[in-house]
Amino acid sequence: MSNIDVSDIQGFSLKGYNFPRARYLLLELLHPEAARAFVERLLPDVTTGERWDIDKKPMSTVNLAFTYKGLVRLQLPRASLLSFPIEFQQGMKARGDILYDTGKNGPEHWDSVWQEDQVHAWLAVNARTAEALEERCTAIGQLMTETAGARLLQAQDACAIYLNDKPSTKEHFGYTDGFGNPDFQGAERECVPGQGKLTPDGRWEALATGEFLLGYADEAGELPVAPIPHLLGRNGTFMVYRKLHQNVATFRGYLDEKGELYGGGKEKLAAKFVGRWRDGTPIELSPDEPNPGIVADQNRNTNFTYGGDPAGVRCPVGAHVRRVHPRDAFGFNGGLVNRRRIMRRGLPYGEYVPEGQPVRDEDERGIIFMALNASIFRQFEFVQQQWVEYGNDSHLGNDKDLLAGNHDGTGKFMVQGTTDPNNPPFLCGGLPSFVELRGGDYFFIPSLTALAMIATGTVDPR
Ligand code: HEM
Repeated sequence: MSNIDVSDIQGFSLKGYNFPRARYLLLELLHPEAARAFVERLLPDVTTGERWDIDKKPMSTVNLAFTYKGLVRLQLPRASLLSFPIEFQQGMKARGDILYDTGKNGPEHWDSVWQEDQVHAWLAVNARTAEALEERCTAIGQLMTETAGARLLQAQDACAIYLNDKPSTKEHFGYTDGFGNPDFQGAERECVPGQGKLTPDGRWEALATGEFLLGYADEAGELPVAPIPHLLGRNGTFMVYRKLHQNVATFRGYLDEKGELYGGGKEKLAAKFVGRWRDGTPIELSPDEPNPGIVADQNRNTNFTYGGDPAGVRCPVGAHVRRVHPRDAFGFNGGLVNRRRIMRRGLPYGEYVPEGQPVRDEDERGIIFMALNASIFRQFEFVQQQWVEYGNDSHLGNDKDLLAGNHDGTGKFMVQGTTDPNNPPFLCGGLPSFVELRGGDYFFIPSLTALAMIATGTVDPR
């Protein structure tokens, strides 16, 4: 049972809709009064977290979030603006040194829309069909024209990769994605083993609501830092939006080259990189071969720990999933990681090229990565800085995450192993740039109450 008011929370903050298509409309808000009128007119269309009856599943959804600059444009009172967490006020670009968004990931390489600091709002339309997407976007475009409250800077399309004419959960490197997402109290779905936090007796239970929604106690029993007045923050959350370009040709070339040399073969090496076989089987559970039975079983596909594999002989210590969600790998029964969890949303963008066909790094292709959390500083920024870009917590010195790290050709990835010829230790050196940042920002996803307050200019911090 839900103890949170799902009708006041944007659906996107609570669940992935699992619709195959999305368009992220990146907007500049225009005159404050007109911008507020635009938000007010849009309000009835904003999708909440309410449950859909089977036959009433909408064809498309609408969600809305603002950058700090957007809230300034909407003329929130100064005291409210200044009560937002500092990292949100500064925005993602200013946090580049912390995130290691430098060199080829620096703002000078971002899409122009992100370089110009004009994005005030993110309006996400998720849709079940291409027609439903167009229909909804046309209606929103009309609203923008009628109210003169917003201007479209860029429409970022994203779409699930279709295999055999069916939407899949694959990403461009060929891995099945979207298993691991934290359970938290109040969210509608049942607690799935492996998705929440570990209890001392080895069970999994939902994390505190305040790790993902403002206005509720978090894992420390405290209310997360939130703007004033209370109603402005409550039931809202923060979102990190990052457009991550994937160099698919480089990835495939590197995997082919190293896979030839590795005793376990190419596919096993691919599995070691991520900690899951490309079909999604966790290698901690099935280190020698993919197991479709595990993938299909919700009670098993994220139900594993690393405590029995401290040396990484099943799942390397530096594998992507082990770095970004170390579970119990750092001891204390997982207690150290419960405040570093992020909820992932997002979809691939760009055309998928099947393995074996010519593919170019230069083409537009990657993931629109979105991470939701109550504290960008404590959750996303920590994970990105300490676990993706730096390896000390895993005793990996300054080794970066193989997939998502900002590589310059000098990095390495260690596959721990045994004397078994199918599982030998192996060193992957000279890590090239697999993923590059093309821009993004930090957003606030308000509750429905907060959206109404913003739209009517009634945010009162006193
Ligand atoms: C283009 C870049 C990336 C690719 C291709 C990628 C791919 C994947 C894949 C294939 C999985 C396994 C499926 C699953 O467990 O759901 C995964 C899991 C995950 N990734 Fe990434 N990822 C990328 C970037 C990132 C970044 C930048 C972060 C964090 C800052 C991140 C955080 C996570 C988390 C938290 C999980 C779930 C781990 C778990 O709960 O066991 N990923 N990713």
